[in-house]
Amino acid sequence: MQNNNIVLMGFMGVGKGSLARLLAKETGRISIDTDDLIESMENTKIKKIFEKEGESYFRQAEKNLSTWLKKSVKDSIISVGGGFYQVGKLQKIGHVIYLESSFDAILDRINSFDNAKKKLKKRPLLQDMAKAKDLISKRHPEYMACADTVIQTAGKTSSEISEEIIKLLKLKN
Ligand code: S3P
Repeated sequence: MQNNNIVLMGFMGVGKGSLARLLAKETGRISIDTDDLIESMENTKIKKIFEKEGESYFRQAEKNLSTWLKKSVKDSIISVGGGFYQVGKLQKIGHVIYLESSFDAILDRINSFDNAKKKLKKRPLLQDMAKAKDLISKRHPEYMACADTVIQTAGKTSSEISEEIIKLLKLKN
């Protein structure tokens, strides 16, 4: 496993961040999230970066961050934004897990939260549902191509998924 890191990848709203935090707690590792890091680096929210600087600026920030992750981060659980895989060579950061789900299951998951509106609002690429549905179809084969492991998440709780990953990768004795 590259740098002993685990990279959680998948479409927006699939639950990468919550799972990363749970896995970190269960395995005694640190969890980090690329969107959170970019917001800290830029001192602003992702939504504002898209509005003010445009998507290509954000993608460049992801690229810069990937270089840093490859060089400087180890023993961690890293949740990455839904488009982060486009930086290329994700496996140089760590063992890549694709959290797979259908678009409908992702929407059901988001809508199950009290703050569902907020969760949708903060994601610029989840504003137009038809476009987002096309995006997940386009990305699915690309996610598959850069994954070391694929985990089906629909209908499972974060704890179930976390246990599945811990067993599969033997993360605990
Ligand atoms: C994006 C996903 C978002 C965030 C940005 C772009 C994408 O992260 O990086 O809004 O291109 O899929 P989440 O997957 O954590 O929502």
